[in-house]
Amino acid sequence: MDDFYPLILAAGKGVRMRSDIPKVLHPLLGKPMLCYVIEAVRALHPSKIYLVVSDQSSMRKEELGNYPLEFIIQTEPLGTGHAVLQARHLLQDREGVLMVMNGDSPLITPQTLRGLLRSHRKSGAIATTLTAMLDDPTGYGRIIRGSDNRIEASVEEREATPSQRQNKEVNAGFYCFKIPHIFPYLAKIERSPHHKEYYLPDVFSILRKEGEEVNSFPASSPQEVLGINNRYQLAMVERLMREEFLKNLMMKGVTIVDPHSTYIDSTVKVGKDTVIHPQVVLQGYTRIGPRCQIHSFSKISHSWLGQEVIILSNSVIESSRIRKGARIGPFARLRPESLIGPQAKIGNFVEVKKSVVGRGSKANHLTYLGDAIIGKKVNIGAGTITCNYDGKKKWQTIIEDGVFIGSNTEIIAPLTIRKGAYIGAGSTITKEVPPHSLAIARDRQVNIKKWVLRNRKGKK
Ligand code: UD1
Ligand code: CA
Repeated sequence: MDDFYPLILAAGKGVRMRSDIPKVLHPLLGKPMLCYVIEAVRALHPSKIYLVVSDQSSMRKEELGNYPLEFIIQTEPLGTGHAVLQARHLLQDREGVLMVMNGDSPLITPQTLRGLLRSHRKSGAIATTLTAMLDDPTGYGRIIRGSDNRIEASVEEREATPSQRQNKEVNAGFYCFKIPHIFPYLAKIERSPHHKEYYLPDVFSILRKEGEEVNSFPASSPQEVLGINNRYQLAMVERLMREEFLKNLMMKGVTIVDPHSTYIDSTVKVGKDTVIHPQVVLQGYTRIGPRCQIHSFSKISHSWLGQEVIILSNSVIESSRIRKGARIGPFARLRPESLIGPQAKIGNFVEVKKSVVGRGSKANHLTYLGDAIIGKKVNIGAGTITCNYDGKKKWQTIIEDGVFIGSNTEIIAPLTIRKGAYIGAGSTITKEVPPHSLAIARDRQVNIKKWVLRNRKGKK
């Protein structure tokens, strides 16, 4: 079989996005738009993927899936025809199929790309284009066919006549070309008088004039060819993707109470029999185990949750690990590098940062735990604060197994509270507390008898 060279068009100004970042890097369900096109064509197992970009510095290979990629720079965004020609010097000595893909059409599927390639090879034509029938073809190039039903041209909307605009068959932005034969024809594309750009689809009419055949292959659904040119289309495509992704999760045994108000990145994995309530946001490389409950208005990013974890409403969790059966929230905040042990409880208005909380330990109310290592079965009373910052450096607090900390305690780090110790409520602890001892660090109470009555008399 002949060789296969996929080329994704990912340069261009993206003027309609009105953005400082390249259009194809705008995220969809947590991944750059471009990743989806890369993933679709990867399924065809090319030895590498060529990408036409305006500037390589903003493209990070690891973000794009670590597939062998070769970047080709298009210094000026002179149109899709010009973009493909930037690959000429690399590919003109090769023989095979050049598959050109718009980088802004992330719903494309491997099946359709495979069909396009197969149809192209079978037809023997020099060019094959993917087409689709759209109810609303606004913004797309329209396919013009002759009386013999063969493709004569594809006309951009802005250059189309009113009757051509009525045509619902569009050029989808995915093509196969025979190389090296196509390059001389691409070089004949002229700048559009209106837009001063070299339009790739103009090559169809050039080919026809030269007596060459232009083959077409229909997309399996109109949806998969949707291109993203502005932020409204970005949101609409993301909605379609989300619907599909959540449906898949539900088919795999995850309960999503209201898919219309649940926002889960396509990078997230969720275990069976986990229940996700409305208005939950799960982002990045989050992994959620089986039989968990995630309640409303919680946001979890880049975190790992074991089985049977309960996240109550309004909790915010970032880059943390939560082990089996732990319960977090409502209104809890776990900042990066927090590790919550099995069966532990982090309750309302508790903030944890870069801390370990051991098995079965509890901090149920109004507490700050920062840079702390907390053992097993520790009880942290309401209003406990680890004072970890002296204005210059962060210091560590160690609280060993079985410690009981009374409410409203400040622990001035660095400090260790040894195994089984008790801290009296309202203490400010500044020294190590030995094992199994009671530490109280507060003024003793003084009761001045009848003081109130005496004062009242004085006033009169
Ligand atoms: C393009 C097609 C149109 C088709 C539609 C399908 C052209 C002229 N028109 O229109 O027929 O119906 O896609 O979605 O091709 N790009 C570059 N360099 C450039 C210009 C663009 O790399 O100089 C890239 C863009 O990043 C984008 C892709 O090419 O990923 C398509 O460009 P875009 O401007 O979005 O073309 P459309 O107007 O959507
Ligand atoms: Ca487009």
